[in-house]
Amino acid sequence: MRQGYEGTGPGAITPDGCAVELYTRLPVGTEPDIITAAVPAAAHILELGSGVGRMTHPLLDLGFAVTAVDESADMLEHVRGARRIRSSIEDLDLGETFDVVLLASFLVHAGDVRVRRALLDTCARHVADDGCVLIQREGEDYHTDVPRERADPSGFVVRILSAEPVGDGSSSVRAEYVFPDATWTQTFLSRPLTKDAFEEALAEAGLKVDRYLTDDGIWVRAVKG
Ligand SMILES: C[S@@+](CC[C@H](N)C(=O)[O-])C[C@H]1O[C@@H](n2cnc3c(N)ncnc32)[C@H](O)[C@@H]1O
Repeated sequence: MRQGYEGTGPGAITPDGCAVELYTRLPVGTEPDIITAAVPAAAHILELGSGVGRMTHPLLDLGFAVTAVDESADMLEHVRGARRIRSSIEDLDLGETFDVVLLASFLVHAGDVRVRRALLDTCARHVADDGCVLIQREGEDYHTDVPRERADPSGFVVRILSAEPVGDGSSSVRAEYVFPDATWTQTFLSRPLTKDAFEEALAEAGLKVDRYLTDDGIWVRAVKG
């Protein structure tokens, strides 16, 4: 396990505390639409931290080519129709570039600043000169609006139970997913990033914001800068 990350519940748990079975059950949301609106048709997407393919499969259906990267073989086993690469994102060096690099799921909020830097360096290393990096950031109130919960129409409840500062600028966040027949929890480290701090982190990796794709500033299109 990565230090500060853990998960409970049935089945395999990834090093960052995600439950594989949980991700096979979670529905996809608006992510494929946001991505489609921001990139050229039929682009080749390098998806970092693909999990079981929750976003990969709809993206393939929309006509994109996807290379899916995850450090968990248990997650990747569920990915169909995409090239699959088992690797930590930090260490990934494919020696090729892509039209689009996707760093979703708030991974940019890694607790360890060196990990965050390595994730963004991987994005920069793999994006074509005329390509883009799509990043999903946390919303502004993610660490303050706690506890909070959302009942998903598909029949489960997701709760953010707590976000406790751990003293180095990051917080330990505890999430719970309750289904009628199973409950999973994930505890993970998250380092809040203001817009300025986020843009600074991008700049350190040689990237810059092209535009914010959603009004809440959560989805960002970045380019080499
Ligand atoms: C929260 S899940 C999200 C999966 C997928 N993006 C989705 O939205 O369904 C995060 C995934 O990223 C993978 N992951 C997290 N940090 C990683 C890292 N540094 N290198 C490789 N994989 C990582 C985990 O194994 C897990 O499958």
